[in-house]
Amino acid sequence: MTSTSWTGAIAAAAARLAEAGVPSPRVDAELLAAHVSGLRRGQLLAADAPGEDHLAAFADLVERRLGREPLQHLTGSAAFRYGELAVGPGVFVPRPETELLVDWALEHLPEGGTVIDACSGSGAIAHAIATERPDSRVWAVEADPDAFEWLESNLQGTGAVPVLADAVAPGTLAELDGQVDLVVANPPYVPMDMEVAPEVDFDPSGAVYADEAGLSVIQPLALRAARWLAPGGWYGFEHDDTHGRAAPEILGVSGFTEVADHDDLAGRSRFTTGKLGLSP
Ligand SMILES: C[S@@+](CC[C@H](N)C(=O)[O-])C[C@H]1O[C@@H](n2cnc3c(N)ncnc32)[C@H](O)[C@@H]1O
Repeated sequence: MTSTSWTGAIAAAAARLAEAGVPSPRVDAELLAAHVSGLRRGQLLAADAPGEDHLAAFADLVERRLGREPLQHLTGSAAFRYGELAVGPGVFVPRPETELLVDWALEHLPEGGTVIDACSGSGAIAHAIATERPDSRVWAVEADPDAFEWLESNLQGTGAVPVLADAVAPGTLAELDGQVDLVVANPPYVPMDMEVAPEVDFDPSGAVYADEAGLSVIQPLALRAARWLAPGGWYGFEHDDTHGRAAPEILGVSGFTEVADHDDLAGRSRFTTGKLGLSP
């Protein structure tokens, strides 16, 4: 028998997580308790005291979180817009700021439109577009075979088509050249020498970092997007906050007009968009 309540266990865990510098310690502790108990966060306050097995499982997950394993790896899922993506080792954990790129994408997607999510990872963007706009036809391109396994399973039942390929290779989805209405991408873009949060070490490095000051995928992908798109089609991609000038310049020299850069909710330069010019 144990008399430790969930409230007490969560408070103790939150204090340890806070002391270790884990961001949002209370929420993390509650979400881990909810994961272990099978209860919703709001039910934990009034729940019966957990059994020894649940307390032990909770303690184990809290230790791992103290080691800065991402919360989403511990629960096995990441919330993104209205959906949940399965995530774990081998795939990038979707970030909330990418939801803003999806907002923009949905505003620029015509009825029955064709979409390519060019660096799809877990499929967060493709999943959101395919489920929120079931009239669209969505392709999701991912180059890493490990990430592709997560992508395939996350896109099941959405109608979006996973494609294991290098998005910047000219042959990839070449059958769609000149016909796509919207290309979206959250490519790897962190410059190699950038300091990152400890959790980022659990993402595959090829999902996070890019050579050439973070632009080695962004640059060729702009040209590939220009080939996929129909004249007047839109391209939007996420970038590092140090790319607020370089990213729009790249679109400007790749055939795009109406180029704009957009901030995230923290006011940092986060994604760039442009419309493919009507004639070369
Ligand atoms: C930052 S993650 C983004 C994942 C997902 N779109 C999201 O927003 O959460 C970048 C993804 O692009 C993939 N990737 C990197 N280079 C690629 C390329 N040339 N072609 C296709 N995928 C690529 C990586 O393996 C990784 O899964």
